[in-house]
Amino acid sequence: AQAIMQHTQGSNIIVEPVIDSTNQYMLERIPSLKSGDACLAEYQSAGRGRRGRQWISPFGCNLYLSMYWKLDQGPAAAVGLSLVVGIIIAETLNKISKSKVKVKWPNDLYLNDKKLAGILVELTGKTGDAAHIIIGIGINIGMGKNNINKDKEINQEWSSLADEVDYIERNELSANIINALKDALVLFEKEGLLPFLSRWFELDNFLGRDVKLLIGEKIITGIEMGINQQGALLLRQNNGEVIPYIGGEISLRSN
Ligand code: BTN
Repeated sequence: AQAIMQHTQGSNIIVEPVIDSTNQYMLERIPSLKSGDACLAEYQSAGRGRRGRQWISPFGCNLYLSMYWKLDQGPAAAVGLSLVVGIIIAETLNKISKSKVKVKWPNDLYLNDKKLAGILVELTGKTGDAAHIIIGIGINIGMGKNNINKDKEINQEWSSLADEVDYIERNELSANIINALKDALVLFEKEGLLPFLSRWFELDNFLGRDVKLLIGEKIITGIEMGINQQGALLLRQNNGEVIPYIGGEISLRSN
């Protein structure tokens, strides 16, 4: 597979039935990759999520995709990059989904207020140098409530595209995501988050809603006001002040 990666001048796509983790697969091959190279698997035996969590990856029904990108600006720009990834997935899925797919800061996709997809960005590279970025995307596509019951394994509420679309062409969907992502990352490298801000606001699942932000042990509450140009989450406090936050997990305050 390593040789296939170097076979053509443009970017390449590797498709394997089984991989431990498509992110891991790409991480191990960074020296032979070029920006836009992607890898897809039908099943992951050790799919990973953020914060050391596992990503349940049943065979042949979902999308497990990783893409490599060399980011000349260095690792600091990766925060904004991952927000762009969310926007692109939501916009692509919204061409076929009956209900609107939305983004949840910083790295999730939501459908009907439940998690539909997750993004795991992993990188190597020191400050000052170009960063090598692996963008991992997992989307619940065929794992509908009526075919596979994964509720016992997945410890949060989740949704699936299968419940929203009658017919899904996964090949087409993968290609659309890969193409749109490549274009968006080129734009992001040139102009940063600015051209994406209004698109984020259009898709933000929590905009204007009463939320709580969990940072370590600390809980901060406020009204979600979207993001700023650095990709920080904006929360309006009771006293009217709007404060940017760069980390944490948000959820509805009523939950
Ligand atoms: C999360 O929400 O915690 C992120 C989930 C990311 C899952 C994808 S599936 C493809 C890629 N390979 C992995 O091992 N993880 C990501």
